[in-house]
Amino acid sequence: MTQYPLSRPEPLGVHPDYRRLRETCPVARVGSPYGPAWLVTRYADVAAVLTDARFSRAAAPEDDGGILLNTDPPEHDRLRKLIVAHTGTARVERLRPRAEEIAVALARRIPGEGEFISAFAEPFSHRVLSLFVGHLVGLPAQDLGPLATVVTLAPVPDRERGAAFAELCRRLGRQVDRETLAVVLNVVFGGHAAVVAALGYCLLAALDAPLPRLAGDPEGIAELVEETLRLAPPGDRTLLRRTTEPVELGGRTLPAGALVIPSIAAANRDPDRPVGRRMPRHLAFGRGAHACLGMALARMELQAALKALAEHAPDVRLPAGTGALVRTHEELSVSPLAGIPIQR
Ligand code: HEM
Repeated sequence: MTQYPLSRPEPLGVHPDYRRLRETCPVARVGSPYGPAWLVTRYADVAAVLTDARFSRAAAPEDDGGILLNTDPPEHDRLRKLIVAHTGTARVERLRPRAEEIAVALARRIPGEGEFISAFAEPFSHRVLSLFVGHLVGLPAQDLGPLATVVTLAPVPDRERGAAFAELCRRLGRQVDRETLAVVLNVVFGGHAAVVAALGYCLLAALDAPLPRLAGDPEGIAELVEETLRLAPPGDRTLLRRTTEPVELGGRTLPAGALVIPSIAAANRDPDRPVGRRMPRHLAFGRGAHACLGMALARMELQAALKALAEHAPDVRLPAGTGALVRTHEELSVSPLAGIPIQR
């Protein structure tokens, strides 16, 4: 029996078994750290799992995703409405000029010899996330200083991270009620690691483009971002679901209570995925009730970052190639590259 998670052979690739499973056994019984589960690998089936209420997120508490992911509609929809109006493209676009300034300042400061995640991806992501969260609760970003210590991927002593979290909650809690605070904290925790991971993968893809060619080409940048999200979603995110009743899926009948792993990484490479207005669609931001609340922000961040890098650090390169790059952890959750040595 296949054991989930399958490893990633190279940073922008996925394990070849995903293709084999998609072609021969698209709803496969697998072993997983959570016990026996069903791994779903076709685009249509993954989209069906994510949009069908019989696949419950709340009944799959093995993957703690915060208050929003851990709740099913209709309660979930009520919670999501507390902030959803502030998360769409129009609102996020207002933050783009400031995000671009942050990205330019960081790109200009990239040293001759450095590491991309700590020099650019982390500070860029937590600064823009602070802007966004500040805008959600009505505070200037500079009042959210503790956020960086709360979300950073760098090692921080537990006591220090705990104190920063308590202080962040105090500051946010003065602005919003308890329930909204829980949803905003979901955004804080959901909004950093995935962006840092995607920034790393987008850098690798942009260096292949090559990077200077993207300067002055916003459409090319937007396409590169979408294609990178499709081919290398920040983790083969476990979007665990559990069936609430027997369900037919991909020619099989799953019993009630079955644990289901819809694989975005596999679905995004399915040759049968539908084509959108200009490009094949992808599921990197999920689908349905729990579709990513930060997708407009994430897209804007990735585009602003690549624009700044192409225009202000076009000479960035990887001295050791991609072979030596390792991920922070295996497939199960968002897994940024542990470090990307760069030179210019
Ligand atoms: C490239 C970056 C990102 C990727 C690939 C990504 C991916 C995803 C995916 C696949 C889901 C659905 C999970 C499921 O259905 O089980 C999700 C949900 C979510 N994401 Fe993101 N995300 C990204 C960035 C962000 C950012 C920047 C934020 C916040 C500012 C954010 C906040 C959330 C929240 C709050 C949810 C839960 C939504 C709900 O349950 O209603 N994400 N994300």
